[in-house]
Amino acid sequence: MLNRRDIIKVGAVAGAALVLPAQRIVAAVAGGAQPAPPFTVPLPIPSVLDPVFTDRAGDHYELAVRPDTTQILPGRNTRVLSYNGVFPGPTIKATRGRPVKVRLINELPTPAALHLHGGEVPQESDGHPLDVIQPGGSRVYEYPNHQPAATLWYHDHAHHLEAEQVYKGLSGFYLLEEPDSELPGGAHDLPIALRDAAFTDGGELLWEMGGFRRRTTVLVNGAVQPVHTVARRRYRLRLLNAANERTFRLRIDGADVVQVGSDGGLLPKPVRRTEFLLSPAERVDVVVDFSRFGEGSSLILSNADGNADANTNLLKFVVAGDRVRGDRAVPARLSGAAAPLAFPRGPVPTRKVVFGYNPKVPEFLINGQVFDPNRADFTVKRGSTEIWEIVNDPKPAPIPHNLHLHLVQFRVLDRNGVPVRSWEAYPKDTVRVAPGETVRILVTFDSEFTGLYPFHCHFVDHSSIGMMAQMKIIP
Ligand code: C2O
Ligand code: CU
Ligand code: CU
Repeated sequence: MLNRRDIIKVGAVAGAALVLPAQRIVAAVAGGAQPAPPFTVPLPIPSVLDPVFTDRAGDHYELAVRPDTTQILPGRNTRVLSYNGVFPGPTIKATRGRPVKVRLINELPTPAALHLHGGEVPQESDGHPLDVIQPGGSRVYEYPNHQPAATLWYHDHAHHLEAEQVYKGLSGFYLLEEPDSELPGGAHDLPIALRDAAFTDGGELLWEMGGFRRRTTVLVNGAVQPVHTVARRRYRLRLLNAANERTFRLRIDGADVVQVGSDGGLLPKPVRRTEFLLSPAERVDVVVDFSRFGEGSSLILSNADGNADANTNLLKFVVAGDRVRGDRAVPARLSGAAAPLAFPRGPVPTRKVVFGYNPKVPEFLINGQVFDPNRADFTVKRGSTEIWEIVNDPKPAPIPHNLHLHLVQFRVLDRNGVPVRSWEAYPKDTVRVAPGETVRILVTFDSEFTGLYPFHCHFVDHSSIGMMAQMKIIP
């Protein structure tokens, strides 16, 4: 059995190829560039992207991906990658039923691919890791938006480069909305992307594949421990784990928090909850009622797993103003929520997905193999329903993973045989699988599309070095 020290060693091995001399790597808190004092920087809200034009075919956007600089630590310019100069990327707001087209212009010196995470999109628009845009090139991705309203996000997916490019800033929100939502909107609907980062003492982002141990500074929409003033009313918070490898255990102690959505859309029945365990790429939508707190009260979004390893207190809300009357309570049932995926009649075939690790290379494995773009790992008939049994092999090292499927939302059935609760069940596109765990999901390949789509661990430092496979969906 490996202990915690050994797990840390495994992380170090995975990053060994890119490790810099130790004295050059200093966490921002330890010396060199320092973050601003806690809760002095306002929470950045990513700007909402304006369409370049709209017509009967939908809303047309442009995203230019390029090397950039931004200020994360006071007085320092940090080199990042940006979409349109925004770090993290701007928010795209889409409406259910109305298509969106995004032209990605690659101004990077490396290939880029745009992936709409959680999106039901044709293969040519999926941002498959081998289907990249070369430097200087551009292309249009088409998103039909035929699926339920959901908190989706977009990020880079270029083969072997996605971990580094996402780490350096290439992700953003894609909010697919219901035209008449019952939930708080406008300035009362806050997208909140959480990720961790490591800084050199010169204030640059330190990139090392697998180097999660040094990523001890949590960024909230790109800022360190920001503060946000809220009115005395309900807010919708869309919490996204945009980190490469960190899992967050989120709480807002003292607040009344109702979960209204999961990865792929709204929950039919909202649930009151206190803690949210989010592995990379997972989302929860919650409604928080700030109306019962007095002027000047403050509440903290915290990461209960932070401890000494990373900042525990992530974001402070300060309540201001008079109580807002008449904002709507969360209804007991949400319209626009998809009915949970049901078992079909008859037997359901089961497939196995086993996560493994080979420390000698190092490389991460699915069913004993690294990603091979020329291999279709599974062939699936469109419309069919399957159970996938996902096993995280704790040998030779207990490493957390999760599984993300492109194209479809699935239902999580059970974890080591214990049925999961409604809020963890559906609609999901990413599910965490702890070392030694077996998680079963039910998935129906009921989208309108066929073709080759990836599935992978969303600890992107793992998927970038092998932990990815693909399914061929046939008519
Ligand atoms: Cu967000 Cu292929 O992933
Ligand atoms: Cu995805
Ligand atoms: Cu993994």
